[in-house]
Order: sequence, then structure tokens, then C-alpha cells
Amino acid sequence: MLENINNLKNEVAEKIKNLNNIDALENFRLEYLVKKGKIQQLFDRMKDLPKEEKPIIGKELNILRKFVENNFNELKSKLTAKLDSSPSIDLTLPGRKSFEGSKHPVAETVQEMVDIFESMGFTVAEGPEIEDGYHNFDALNFPPDHPARDMQDTFFMKTGDNLVLRTHTSPVQIRVMQSQKPPIRTIMPGRVYRNEAINARSLAEFHQIEGLYINKKVTFAELKGTLMTFAKKMYGEKSQFRFRPSFFPFTEPSAELDMSCFLCGGKGCKICKNTGWLEILGCGMVHPNVLKSGGIDPEEYSGFAFGFGIERVALLRTGIDDIRLLYENDIRVLEQF
Ligand code: PHE
Repeated sequence: MLENINNLKNEVAEKIKNLNNIDALENFRLEYLVKKGKIQQLFDRMKDLPKEEKPIIGKELNILRKFVENNFNELKSKLTAKLDSSPSIDLTLPGRKSFEGSKHPVAETVQEMVDIFESMGFTVAEGPEIEDGYHNFDALNFPPDHPARDMQDTFFMKTGDNLVLRTHTSPVQIRVMQSQKPPIRTIMPGRVYRNEAINARSLAEFHQIEGLYINKKVTFAELKGTLMTFAKKMYGEKSQFRFRPSFFPFTEPSAELDMSCFLCGGKGCKICKNTGWLEILGCGMVHPNVLKSGGIDPEEYSGFAFGFGIERVALLRTGIDDIRLLYENDIRVLEQF
């Protein structure tokens, strides 16, 4: 009997060495520690022993049972601890960030400009990007041989029927006048095209916002007042502006609006070509011939118009000093805005 006990002890010690998972541990328990297990079987055999051997064997069997139980408990806590510390998901990994997109600075600029003009009572209109020569030039008082046509550096359509990629948003003025009755107070955002060399200051494809106000007895003072109200809302009370006389065939008199340079604060730098000023729009009182093209009687009505280059405004807002960066789609640039 003592030999049996010893054998079982050796058997258990051997088994335990290779026991490395919860299922094997359960089998171990079923083999040794349950009511019909190997240890109990030895206890059962005690009844056949001579009286004087019973206490000795009983003691040894109890030691064996304690040995098996201790080993079982130890292994159990080891294996379950291992299970807890190696879950299939690693809870210590940093969370996955979902990247939020943002509006393109040009789209944001358009939206902000539209919001401000809408708050001042302007409505929004749009026109086609492929225009006919009539709307892009003739109706806007460009005579056929006028040098301003060259100034526009036009992309002509190959269709040969005088279609062009519009060089400015001013043709939409004509379309609005032809379809609405005064008073007209409308802005016209859109994409325009010019056959220009691309550099830090200009692109061949860009955006403008045109503005048109037509009513009885509109004055240049109202033009200035409207643009200054807009500019202060857009750039803050402290920004500096100046009107400079200029020429456009479709306005008379004409002016350009400059803003003090955002980069140097007016001291002069490469962005403002050392002038301290940046040109942001062209404007003027609508030429009587243009009113006539739009079907409006210049004796009865007058008006003003203006046209912004939106990318210029976006540069002023963002502090980006090269217009090409707006369209290179480098996420490191765009995600800053
Ligand atoms: N169309 C002009 C341009 O593209 C801007 C402008 C618009 C000027 C309206 C005067 C009035 O430069």
C-alpha cells in the first residue's frame, strides 16, 4: 500500500510538470481529486487493511491528498492569472483616432464672404463657367479691338463659336440684370480662368465673387460704405484700406481696393512687392452701356459693381504666402485651417 501511495505521488509529480493549460488541469482534477478519483480509490481500500496499519497508511494518504490539492490549487491560480493577463484584445493599446476632415480654406473663405454679404441684404446668383464672348466681353462694354481683351488672357474653346472659359464673374452681372428687375442686390461667386503663368501670386484657374447693386440714385459713397462695412467685418476694425483710381471697361469711374499687407503690417515685403499694400478687389459705378446690355434704363437707374479674387482673400485670412499651396492638396498645409 505504501508503495502504491508512492507511485501515485510520483505519477502526480510527473503529470504536473507538463500541465500548462486550463483544460489539462480539469482532466487532472477529474483523474485524482473527485469522489471516484485515484486518491479516493486508495482511501476506499483502507477498510481492508489490518487495524494497526490503518493510522500509518491513513496519515500517508492524507499527506498525498494535501500534496495533490496544493499542487492543483497552485497551478489553477497560475493558469487563470496567465489567462487574465493575455486577453485577445490588448487593452493597453492607444485608441484609434478618427481623423476629422475640414473645409478647404477657399471654400471657407467663400462661405464667410457670402454670409457677410447675405447679412447685408445681398442674394446669391451663379452663371456658367463656359461663357459666350458676348457676355464675357461685348455686353460688358469691351469694344472688339479694345486692349482690355488682351489684358484678360483668355482661354478660347476649340468649338469655334466664340465660347470662352469665363475670365471673370462679371458676365453673371449681365445675366442677373437680364433676369431680375431693380432693385438688384446680388453677389455671384464662381470659378474663373485666365491663360496666365502660374506663380506665387497667380493661378490659371481661380475664384471670384462679383457684387452688383442697382437702384435709383446709387452713389459712389454707397459703394465705399458697402465695401468698408464688409471689409471691417471680414478683417476686423483695425485693418487699413485705401481706394485707388483704376480702369475697367464696365465701370466708370473705377477703383481698386487695397488692404494693408498682412505679412509686414504695411512696412513692405516680398508679398506686397514692398508697397505695404495688397490689392483685393476691383470696383466702380456700372457703366451706362452695361446697364443697357442688361436691359436696364441708365436714365432711371444707376449702380455699383465689385469683384474680389477669392484666393487673395484666403491668403490674407490664413497667412499662406504662396497661392499654389492652396491647391497642392498637401494635408499638412490644409489641416491647419
Ligand atoms: N471683373 C474685374 C476683374 O476680373 C473685377 C471687377 C468687377 C471690377 C466688377 C469692377 C467691377 O478684374
